[in-house]
Amino acid sequence: ILRLEDLALRGQRVFIRADLNVPMTPHGEVADDTRLRAVLPGIRHCLAAGAAVMITSHLGRPVEGALTHADSLAPVAVRLSELLGQPVPLLGDWTHGKFRLDPGEIVLLENCRGNVGEMADDAALAGRIARWIDIYVNDAFAAAHRSQCTTHALALAAPVACAGPLLCAELDTLGRALAQPARPLVAVVGGSKVSTKLTVLERLADRVDTLIVGGGIANTFIAARGHGVGSSLYEPALLDAARRIAARMAERGSRLWLPEDVITATRCAANATPHIRAIDAVPPGEMILDVGPASDAAIEAIMLGAGTIVWNGPLGVFELAPFAAGTRALARAIAASPGHSIAGGGDTLAAIAAFGVTDAIDTISTGGGAFLEFLEGRELPAVAALKARAGGRQRQPT
Ligand code: 3PG
Repeated sequence: ILRLEDLALRGQRVFIRADLNVPMTPHGEVADDTRLRAVLPGIRHCLAAGAAVMITSHLGRPVEGALTHADSLAPVAVRLSELLGQPVPLLGDWTHGKFRLDPGEIVLLENCRGNVGEMADDAALAGRIARWIDIYVNDAFAAAHRSQCTTHALALAAPVACAGPLLCAELDTLGRALAQPARPLVAVVGGSKVSTKLTVLERLADRVDTLIVGGGIANTFIAARGHGVGSSLYEPALLDAARRIAARMAERGSRLWLPEDVITATRCAANATPHIRAIDAVPPGEMILDVGPASDAAIEAIMLGAGTIVWNGPLGVFELAPFAAGTRALARAIAASPGHSIAGGGDTLAAIAAFGVTDAIDTISTGGGAFLEFLEGRELPAVAALKARAGGRQRQPT
């Protein structure tokens, strides 16, 4: 892939597709600016090199051609301007490119999903945009699994198409973690359903030394091992899939880790009474909502010895105090591990922030769905487009 750092940018009109899809407060302010901070290096690089910078992103999933106030990137423009220390005007109706922009200046182009043709990856829309830009930069790892106009068709149509530093860094780090990891490689996959993460689990089962499953996903594996899971959330239809994964790991000599004890309650509520139960003693009518203290200690020992850790998904219902301890212990153990830690996904990032370990995780992916698809080993359409361009036609800027 062609990289932004390798291009001469002076006087060029540079179009950056970023992922500025951030949560907002009820008052319409940016609630978490992690994704904005993550693209600052790419923006600063372009501005310092004397480019005129246009940046766009999607926000939410609006109706095409009918953006509402709530779909606007206006709060993002405000925060970005604060972070950059220079004005970041927001432009609506921008696909014709009829606006003035000087080198060293930046504009934010309104929510690209407002443009008719964005979601359908429309080549005609891409062609219209490509006419007035010199260089297309994709710096949106978190949207790289979407085949849409500004992530895919425009990469194919632009005079020059390259990857920004954030996209490169995430691809490099994740790629290395799975291809040549420092061993032992430990993966933690939590969350509610095996069905949404089956491909990830299967692929990781073939690569890792230890696979730790948590949340509702663990419940299905616990049931597959023949234990009662009371009234827990689990997926009977996936018991065979869970058994297959367990058998494959046993064949490889790797370890599928299940909790030895769990926290249960009769209700999933903040004021429910938690019980510690051995894994083979969950009574009917109680549901598993977290891992237990013996399991916390076991996880800590695994993390201390890990060379590489990949983490996606909580171990329990960490939003509720009685069931937060397992995920908190996991977050702290990963933070304290000497191994290289990589975490991604919405719930995981929320847990990392809630337990105050953000700075101790080596790599935090900005991707949710994209992070999972990468772990699944799927080719991300945005990356495929950049690869196709790298092998062929590019007009070098003058
Ligand atoms: C995300 O938040 O995971 C990305 O911004 C992608 O958003 P999408 O699922 O609406 O495409």
